[in-house]
Amino acid sequence: MKHTDIKDIIVTGEFAGKEVTVCGWVRTSRNSKSVAFIELNDGTSLKNLQVVVEKGEGDFKEPRVGTSVKVVGKVVEGRNNTFEINTVPENITILGDAPTDYPLQKKGHTLEFLRTIPHLRGRTNTFNAVMRVRSVLAAALHRYFQSHNYIYVNTPLITGSDCEGAGEMFTVTTNGFSHDFKTEEEYYANDFFGRKAGLSVSGQLEGEMGATAFGKIYTFGPSFRAENSNTPKHLAEFWHIEPEIAFAELDDVIEIAEDMVKFVIRELLDTCPDEVAFFDAHFEKGLKSRLEELISHDFGRVTYTEAIKLLQDSGEKFVYPVEWGCDLQTEHERYISEKVFKKAVFVTDYPKEIKSFYMKQNPDGKTVAAVDLLVPGVGEIIGGSEREADYDKLVAAMKERNMNLDLYSDYLDLRKYGTVPHGGFGLGFERLIMYTTGMANIRDVIMFPRTVGSIR
Ligand code: 4AD
Repeated sequence: MKHTDIKDIIVTGEFAGKEVTVCGWVRTSRNSKSVAFIELNDGTSLKNLQVVVEKGEGDFKEPRVGTSVKVVGKVVEGRNNTFEINTVPENITILGDAPTDYPLQKKGHTLEFLRTIPHLRGRTNTFNAVMRVRSVLAAALHRYFQSHNYIYVNTPLITGSDCEGAGEMFTVTTNGFSHDFKTEEEYYANDFFGRKAGLSVSGQLEGEMGATAFGKIYTFGPSFRAENSNTPKHLAEFWHIEPEIAFAELDDVIEIAEDMVKFVIRELLDTCPDEVAFFDAHFEKGLKSRLEELISHDFGRVTYTEAIKLLQDSGEKFVYPVEWGCDLQTEHERYISEKVFKKAVFVTDYPKEIKSFYMKQNPDGKTVAAVDLLVPGVGEIIGGSEREADYDKLVAAMKERNMNLDLYSDYLDLRKYGTVPHGGFGLGFERLIMYTTGMANIRDVIMFPRTVGSIR
């Protein structure tokens, strides 16, 4: 078809005076006496291409909103340094008509309505901008790690061990319902893998195996959580970036996390000025300067114990009471980052009881070398830690949690054979997109969200 991308026509100017073929979907069209105007979008650009149709004497029926068309015409410079296409009716071919029940007839649909048409909402400006930001951030993350000697590893999605130990795994089974099995063990022994398997909540355990061979690795893939959290920031299937670094202590992990976040946001500001301006205008006033501020200042840093004190002294009425040992809720996280620090902040050294078995135990016997990155508007976007590298201490932590050590024998071997200090973190990709676009609901930053009670 030799279609020219609308983005290339609008941005480069190199097609001026040339005849091109452009295809796209009609966003709007209007007819006047001698000319018709069609706003065409092919998805490559937030901006539409204007097609000016010289109607001549003939009768021209402008195509309906949503119709896909092919237009052959000449690129000319329009007003305000934009480029448009001049054509005649005979050079417009309808590829696919869109009847009047096309759901995106008019502008200004609510995000809630758009969630009911996941197959079509990509054709709106909002989702065009979100998905381009998503794509640019993904490429930037790969570029960051690739340019710092990390190996990209793909960890399994089907796993036999629960990394976070929070019982939030989806079970993977091929056994149908049956009364033949007397016990759970018997059921799973007869199942596909011969034992219980689930969808991975994190690639970290295998990531550690990679890091203790290749030095530095990262994963970038989906993680699955069967948590019953119907909130604006939880998905059952989310995309997870998990770097794991050998010869790294907690401070190194924190430094890398800050460097990575700043790197990708800098790339976003450079690559997507139109999209950032769009979100600034329509979703979060001041977004652009917030992102610029973020990359030019150090992130804050506070221990969990200090954070609890700040919350208790705040005089603020929280829904969830604050006391040492409690898990920080979104309201607490947002208070710390929005009201106290007014920027991104690392919270470190959490009580061991509320964190995972693999985290390095601090000398105080009460806390672990954990870190969460909290950002205004969203709360936690990163969770990580230095890992417990000592075999005996790790085994003790697992026994305290009644874990089945046999399921983790490979993981424990890493502490037997050439153990090293190491650590890493997990970045929730959708939460990063929420933060960088100002979109308030995680369902609106992924094309096909899976959440509790909802799948299509
Ligand atoms: O804090 P989490 O549970 O940490 C881990 O999974 C570690 N194994 C990571 C590591 O150290 N390699 O999850 C990490 C991040 C969270 O900070 C959050 O951004 C995101 O993953 N996340 C979710 N995002 C969307 N929906 C959910 N249900 C999420 N659960 C976690």
